[in-house]
Amino acid sequence: MSDPVYDSIATEYKTSKLIPFRKYIEAHTLMNLVGDLEGKSILDLACGEGIYARKFKLHGAREVTGVDLSSGMIELAWEEELIKSTGCHFVVGDARNLRVQKQFDLITGIYLLNYAQSREELVQFCKTIVHHLKPGGRFLGINDNPFNSPERYSSYEKYGFIKESPRNRQEGDYIRYTMYNPDRSFCSFDNYYLSPETYEEVFAETGLRYFSWHLPEVSPDQSSNPHWDHFMEYPPIIGMSAAV
Ligand SMILES: C[S@@+](CC[C@H](N)C(=O)[O-])C[C@H]1O[C@@H](n2cnc3c(N)ncnc32)[C@H](O)[C@@H]1O
Repeated sequence: MSDPVYDSIATEYKTSKLIPFRKYIEAHTLMNLVGDLEGKSILDLACGEGIYARKFKLHGAREVTGVDLSSGMIELAWEEELIKSTGCHFVVGDARNLRVQKQFDLITGIYLLNYAQSREELVQFCKTIVHHLKPGGRFLGINDNPFNSPERYSSYEKYGFIKESPRNRQEGDYIRYTMYNPDRSFCSFDNYYLSPETYEEVFAETGLRYFSWHLPEVSPDQSSNPHWDHFMEYPPIIGMSAAV
């Protein structure tokens, strides 16, 4: 089991975390959503090379398990753990059918659900989340923004990436991201479009309650920087939360 796309771009994807929007918007929005992590057990689905799993542990989480389909990404996560141990645990697994004998206070999916290519796959992801949440546990995600009009997809170049999709984007269509890294390396990968209504219906029918979308936020030290205005007006990514 592995993900050939992410295996082949693992290093470039990791480098894309140096693009400024990752820090000033993505990480800021996510850390605001997760709130106080002291003593929490966390399952980070689609953890990639573990950037957020490590951050959660360093912010007080009691235990963090990261799961990713790509063995290349998980290798990078363990490499980083060997350099500077945080106590996170990383494992290769498919979030569509993962079942471990454990439940968690918090499950995160930072660009997980946008890999569902159909309503059925989204159901699989959501069932995995529900299965592994303790009663009262929360799910938090960062996702490709399904409200983002394809007309805007090419307009994010100044933020270090572009999005592309077929004309007349339909349910299940690819959304190709190309990230242009500060060191001039780049990588492309596909997310998939499902409508906001599909997300909302599938969350409700799988037992993920109190579902909310969360617009991204820019960190306070950048809030008066007009550079981010277009990003904030037409957010290409979005946060989401739910609970059982
Ligand atoms: C855009 S990356 C995000 C990684 C990490 N969350 C981050 O923010 O850096 C998406 C990740 O989702 C993983 N992925 C895709 N489908 C998956 C699945 N079915 N189960 C687990 N991981 C999956 C990919 O291997 C990739 O590492």
